[in-house]
Amino acid sequence: MSNGALSPGDGAARQTPPRHVAIIMDGNGRWASARGLPRGEGHRRGVEALRRVVRAAHELGISYLTIFSFSSENWSRPASEIGDLFGLLRRFIRNDLATLHRDGVRVRVIGEREGLEPDIRDLLREAEDLTRGNSALTLVVAFNYGSRQEIARAAQRLAIEVAEGRRSSDTVTAETLSQYLDAPDIPDPDLIIRTSGEQRLSNFLMWQAAYSELVFVPIHWPDFDRAALEGAISEYARRERRFGGLAAKTGS
Ligand code: IPE
Ligand code: IPE
Ligand code: MG
Repeated sequence: MSNGALSPGDGAARQTPPRHVAIIMDGNGRWASARGLPRGEGHRRGVEALRRVVRAAHELGISYLTIFSFSSENWSRPASEIGDLFGLLRRFIRNDLATLHRDGVRVRVIGEREGLEPDIRDLLREAEDLTRGNSALTLVVAFNYGSRQEIARAAQRLAIEVAEGRRSSDTVTAETLSQYLDAPDIPDPDLIIRTSGEQRLSNFLMWQAAYSELVFVPIHWPDFDRAALEGAISEYARRERRFGGLAAKTGS
């Protein structure tokens, strides 16, 4: 605890981990290419990294972990790669759901379900239904997710309520719109991590990221592990979050 003047490093004293960490798992393809392997092998190794990180997040006391698994724009990739990614999601849910459930993980899914194959929709629903009562860690899977699309869906629902006379237009506020997003009960991410060195959001949680701390790490997702997560959390702990206000000073 500091009780003198604040310096940028003071945040390092913050003991509590970020409550909600969101990760843009990027660099699978480059990881594979650098080793002369097919991109699909990078995605397969990416699932192993995901297993490690879910475990580590739980051990580190994180309450919510959101992972960007497939973006609305990833449909522009070759069909074979899309097939690999969907195959891995199917296998991840089939193979890992029982373990996640045993470990008390609650699975939530955000993104557009319309247009997904029925068996994928069933698996996503099964994962959510089975784990509904769990509370050790909430794993939010962003699948077929795009932030602009999510905001547009919310706006459309509000517009329908206004058009049908069930809501007056002056109740359309930032607060009400946020209640119509895909997971309104989940707090905004405190920390967003992107691997692979890219420094952009790529349509991920743009509404929810208004005051998130962004940490970009230069390693590709298949190499991400507990130590890398701890490194990003240490960086987060050094940040001073002000939310538009002034730095919290003690003793003045
Ligand atoms: C992240 O790795 C996985 C998904 C986007 C689904 P990439 O496939 O984007 O790998 P790079 O960025 O091409 O290396
Ligand atoms: C973002 O990565 C999407 C996921 C990690 C699922 P991309 O690799 O698709 O993003 P861009 O195209 O480099 O911005
Ligand atoms: Mg990428």
